Amino acid sequence: MTKIKTISCIGAGYVGGPTMAVIALKNPHIRINVVDMNPEKIALWNSDNMDDLPVYEPGLSEIIQEVRGKNLFFSTDVDQAIRDAEMIFISVNTPTKSYGIGKGMAADLKYVELCARQIGKGATRDKIVVEKSTLPVRTASSIKKIFAAQQSNISFSVLSNPEFLAEGTAINDLLNADRVLIGGEETEAGQKAIQSLSAIYEAWLPKERIISTNIWSSELSKLTANAFLAQRISSINAISALCEKTGANVDEVAKAIGADSRIGSKFLKSSVGFGGSCFKKDILNLVYLCRHFGLQEAGDYWEQVIKINDYQKQRFAENIVTALFNTVSGKDIAFFGWAFKKDTNDTRESAAIEIADKLIEEQAVITVYDPKVKYARMIEDMNYLDTRSEEENEKALNFETDPYEAAKDSHAIAVITEWDEFKTYDWQKIYSSMKKPAFVFDGRNILDHEDLRKIGFIVRGIGKQ
Ligand code: UDX
Ligand code: ADP
Repeated sequence: MTKIKTISCIGAGYVGGPTMAVIALKNPHIRINVVDMNPEKIALWNSDNMDDLPVYEPGLSEIIQEVRGKNLFFSTDVDQAIRDAEMIFISVNTPTKSYGIGKGMAADLKYVELCARQIGKGATRDKIVVEKSTLPVRTASSIKKIFAAQQSNISFSVLSNPEFLAEGTAINDLLNADRVLIGGEETEAGQKAIQSLSAIYEAWLPKERIISTNIWSSELSKLTANAFLAQRISSINAISALCEKTGANVDEVAKAIGADSRIGSKFLKSSVGFGGSCFKKDILNLVYLCRHFGLQEAGDYWEQVIKINDYQKQRFAENIVTALFNTVSGKDIAFFGWAFKKDTNDTRESAAIEIADKLIEEQAVITVYDPKVKYARMIEDMNYLDTRSEEENEKALNFETDPYEAAKDSHAIAVITEWDEFKTYDWQKIYSSMKKPAFVFDGRNILDHEDLRKIGFIVRGIGKQ
């Protein structure tokens, strides 16, 4: 086993940045270069102002301050980083394909392939290459083929080491990981590479939490873990629709079933729909994989998890229109939150986007307040949908830096993200400033509904009236 002293990570995003920060913190003897082809992003990672870091994660800026310039470095020089490192992590983005075969389903591997070619071309000595991005099963073997075609005298070991961190709790998830999964080849070189990577994690995690498997089990486990988590949310969201019709309370149902230790209480919170860069993408990947192998029924089963999620977002928007006397035309609706969950500035697949789109189609005017997301990001999200022009989006979607201003004179508030600070607001003051009757549509529980009702709000929550 080689004791690693130099690591490079290609891709300085939500995965690469926090993961390398924690590895650097716990392995002061390893020099880590994080590289990205986006110079603006790298400049932000190197900024003295910690508010500028491109990723917001509780606890991240403190670690960056401690290790940056000591054993953690950010740069745009990808080739140099490839030459220097004994171990290279690939943490580039793998969005869903937006063109050609597998459009809207399969993962777009162009960034990974580009990265693999660059590594293959630039390597001057043996390397361990670690897949950190979530990838379809059997990508590792494609990566290996690319290397082999470019350099026959250098040995490349490819490992799969999927990331299980959740945004908003990434640092804690890394420091106290339930498990670390490392997939490698069942050859001597493959097993040695697994040990080298395992040693890095053993700097802070007990050995029993490090699970090694073959490469394809590791790749498939990542997709499966996310599919199971998302399935729980879609299951409870499907029940929330029934609760609204029957008078049952979905939070009570979730509590009651979660108390069964076979079911467990986590990931049973009914919501406006799951978002984030992983769940939808990974399930689509799984569906594509099943269908590719002719397993139509298995593919249809997992696809239903996404369909229920779309249904939930649609239902939430429709509930708003129905409650506001069947029309929101010309009405002002305040959105509390735009991020896909609290404690992150990430908006990828946020339910906010489609709900806003639907309400704007119904001619509502939206004013968003989010403590971490910038207006430019929101407009980009809306433009990406391609439903209307940028000017039209800017007209229909406004932004306020003060939540009280966002709510003022509005007909309703839609709570999209469960930011903790919403609980601390003076809701009496908010109520007084709104048009009456004043509504709160609670997609992510913020306050006790009874408390809001006492003030005078009409409260409509997921799974409750
Ligand atoms: C997820 C996985 O949790 C993580 O292991 C993987 O590495 C990446 O994908 P992430 O998307 O960052 O992480 O956040 P997560 O906490 O899983 O939340 C995803 C979405 O589900 C959010 O929109 C969240 O609000 C929603 N959610 C979560 C619910 O609607 N109900 C729940 O009970 C839990
Ligand atoms: P994730 O959530 O998976 O971390 P991000 O989009 O936040 O995804 O980050 C991925 C990063 O990878 C981006 O900053 C992008 O610029 C970078 N990237 C993609 N391809 C390459 C490449 N070939 N070389 C260097 N950086 C790359």
